[in-house]
Amino acid sequence: MKVYVGMSGDIIHPGHINILKIAVEYGDVTVGLLTDQAIASYKRVPYMSFKQRYEVVSNLKGVSKVIPQNTLDYTDNLLLEKPDFVVHGDDWKEGVQRKTRTKVVQTIEQWGGKVIDVPYTKGISSTKLNQNLAQLGTTPDLRRSMLRRILAAKEIVRVIEVHTGLTGLIAEHASYEADDGIRSFDAMWCSSLTESTSKGKPDIEAVDVTARLGTLSDITEVTTKPIIFDADTGGLVEHFEFTVRSLERLGASAAIIEDKVGLKKNSLFGEEVKQSQDTIDGFCTKIHAGQSAKITDDFMIIARIESLILNKGMEDAVARAKAYIDAGADGIMIHSRQKSPDEIFEFCDHFASFRNGKPLVVVPTSYNSVTEKELASAGANIIIYANQLLRSAYPAMMDTAISILKHQRSLEADSSMLSIKEILNLIPGTK
Ligand code: SPV
Ligand code: MG
Repeated sequence: MKVYVGMSGDIIHPGHINILKIAVEYGDVTVGLLTDQAIASYKRVPYMSFKQRYEVVSNLKGVSKVIPQNTLDYTDNLLLEKPDFVVHGDDWKEGVQRKTRTKVVQTIEQWGGKVIDVPYTKGISSTKLNQNLAQLGTTPDLRRSMLRRILAAKEIVRVIEVHTGLTGLIAEHASYEADDGIRSFDAMWCSSLTESTSKGKPDIEAVDVTARLGTLSDITEVTTKPIIFDADTGGLVEHFEFTVRSLERLGASAAIIEDKVGLKKNSLFGEEVKQSQDTIDGFCTKIHAGQSAKITDDFMIIARIESLILNKGMEDAVARAKAYIDAGADGIMIHSRQKSPDEIFEFCDHFASFRNGKPLVVVPTSYNSVTEKELASAGANIIIYANQLLRSAYPAMMDTAISILKHQRSLEADSSMLSIKEILNLIPGTK
């Protein structure tokens, strides 16, 4: 008899061993090992690569064969293997996995196959183990490599800004249970705008790299997700080389540098303020210097094009993207301050013809009606929500301050605040 078991094989615990023990009683066990893509379609990318997971699972007792399962949906592999039994933990009768189970039942019914639901092993859960692992933290090497892995596994990498340890915790833990799986942020953006603003300073590179690395270090202490660092203009070429190495050492996955020179102002001002764009040659030299300074292959240097911000036109933006890719950029960020995403879509069309597998980063701050799906189908790979946490926190704090002034006490503001109990329990270890 042929038995099929679908598995992620990332954190193996007694529950999995129990399923395999039962599966082997029914016949020869083939494990359909979910690929990174299949897993990332409904939860976070696994800790171990497919190759490592394959190595572990193919050496588990009772496993005769391991084949890749490329989607959450079992159908393709079931049609290929025609198993007599599919064995799975009975937790898939509920929640997001229910649809998958129904489809498996219907598919194997065609040749008289049966689903065996193994009762859930009490006292153990992958989710709990995952939480424990997250508390243990990560290493700079592991964290740095995660962005490339997520890019390979997911259609869209969803990124949110952070500027303190606390916002890092929000990026790390915020999640939403949707019909198609658990939605969360894949990575963090160390924004120069929100970090400068949270220090009460303008976004003009006045907060120097040393101070910014201090904030980055705070964030790395309490989070595990990959980090994309907003390196502004990168500064002088000679200084950028040091920044690259410092970022690598702290475990950041990427630096994005923008092609401006001189006193930098925030892009969302566009031409309302004086800002100058670097020459193509000048910026290519910086990209090249950064690439030569890199110690790891994992670290990415992404070139950010300001042509649309500075009204230099689409042709200039496209010419620069080509040149920056030729100069060795690991990806391109295209920025826009239009209300509509049209110019971004137009850029995406051009980019498709020469992108050479390089990721495209977009920041839908002004064109915020566009959906992630629309950006993904246009060809964007990384979507950065660059300032929303700070923008929402500030009015909330100001309202509270005004309420206290108005009422000469804090009672009236109480309902819009964390309770004392909540704030004392917010950060683990406070008690
Ligand atoms: C930032 O978040 O600091 C950015 C994006 O660089 S923007 O503010 O739109 O320029
Ligand atoms: Mg910035």
